[in-house]
Amino acid sequence: MSSADQTLNLQPPPSPARASLGRRLAFLFRRRRDTLQFFADLARDNGDTTTFKGGRADFWFFTHPDAVRDVLVTQDEKFIKGPALRRTKRTLGEGLLTSEGDLHRRQRRLIQPALHPQRVATYADMMTAFARETADSWRANQEIDLHDQMMRLTLRIVAKTLFDSDVGADVETISHAMDISVGMFVRAMTPWGPLLNFLPLPSNFRFKRAWGQLQKTIEGFISERHASGAHKDDLLSRLLEATDTEGDGTGMSDKLLRDEMITLFTAGHETTANALTFTFYLLSQHRDVEDRLHAELGEVLGGRIPSAADVERLTYTRMVLAESMRLYPPAWAIGREPTEPCTIAGHEVPAGAVVLLSQWVTHRDPRWWPEPEKFDPERFSPTNRSTRPRWSYFPFGGGSRLCVGESFAWMEAILIIATLAQRWRMTYLDPQPPKLKPLITLRPATPIRMRLAGV
Ligand code: HEM
Repeated sequence: MSSADQTLNLQPPPSPARASLGRRLAFLFRRRRDTLQFFADLARDNGDTTTFKGGRADFWFFTHPDAVRDVLVTQDEKFIKGPALRRTKRTLGEGLLTSEGDLHRRQRRLIQPALHPQRVATYADMMTAFARETADSWRANQEIDLHDQMMRLTLRIVAKTLFDSDVGADVETISHAMDISVGMFVRAMTPWGPLLNFLPLPSNFRFKRAWGQLQKTIEGFISERHASGAHKDDLLSRLLEATDTEGDGTGMSDKLLRDEMITLFTAGHETTANALTFTFYLLSQHRDVEDRLHAELGEVLGGRIPSAADVERLTYTRMVLAESMRLYPPAWAIGREPTEPCTIAGHEVPAGAVVLLSQWVTHRDPRWWPEPEKFDPERFSPTNRSTRPRWSYFPFGGGSRLCVGESFAWMEAILIIATLAQRWRMTYLDPQPPKLKPLITLRPATPIRMRLAGV
């Protein structure tokens, strides 16, 4: 990618059909061995648009912000989710992530108000209380696995938000179910995944047991709430009481409610935990940035616990988080399938193709991000933001499928960073940078070992 070329590359992409079997296999091997580098190489070698064959499908990989805008926003209605995510319906049912069309629009109308920024603000004190508990449990000179700690923290927060339940004791059970399911999501991303699901494999039995347990726990929460008739200040009560005033005036069935709860649970904690993990890792590698962050925390908070009202004032903290999600986007790729032929960035894309966008690649394009590997929160100052195309950065997706938890995630992550960083500095203990595992989310492949020191 040339940094001088700011225009859309309209060269016709190489035809996927022309590649020999040998080339296709080599291609597949490279893709599985180092997926992130594979996509980065495609962009480096082919420019803004690459087509390739994967299984029986023709893939179209677009990296230009205009193409991102076309797919996510302007021509949104011509697309459904890609095949990998569609296969997760087996687990996620008809939750927001996987549903389509009228059902998706209706469910979105019912759920969105419960995650509106004003509603989200009411969760702030709970978020900081849990973050404080984590900070209190740490000791100077202790070694922690940061990713594990962040997963536990965000899991407790999302469970409290959804069911007003402190899953402290159940964390192990729920984490176990989630871990096993991630393995199944990975399988869902392969063309032969659905076949394997029907074989009597131990992994299938393990998954069935763990997922069944999770479903039972969630169904238990729902029936308890029906039985007690209590109104609680959580998403479960809000969704039980929500009716579709723009549609048929009714609410959602218990089965849909269960699917939505599991979807919010799944989508709502690992992404944020990954963002926090990479943010603290980056801070440990850039003490100058960390010092500036501490200076802001001192000025705005002066040692007190942050509240919802502080989130707007913590502008540098927000810039640090934004830059961390540029370099390590928790959702690193988005897949779609056009249901009718469409023109994206000047290319005729047939119905049934798989269209791929990648935050990992577009967020590192030197045309919009000079010295892309450099961690520099200044890129997100108001002046610098205005110099880039809007869709050169899309950690939360966009259009009708924009992350419904975006406000929740910003508030949660900023409050956690502010609470933990006021108390602790971390030193990264491994000589190498973290290895990455791009599954549904981009997570570290191994524990992130940190040594703690009091501030
Ligand atoms: C840093 C944290 C997060 C990131 C980076 C993130 C990213 C994303 C992205 C990129 C999408 C769009 C996927 C697509 O278009 O195919 C999405 C959708 C979604 N996210 Fe998030 N997310 C985060 C946190 C959350 C939280 C905290 C919740 C819930 C409380 C949540 C719930 C959802 C749901 C339900 C959808 C599906 C929305 C729909 O299709 O209508 N996410 N997220």
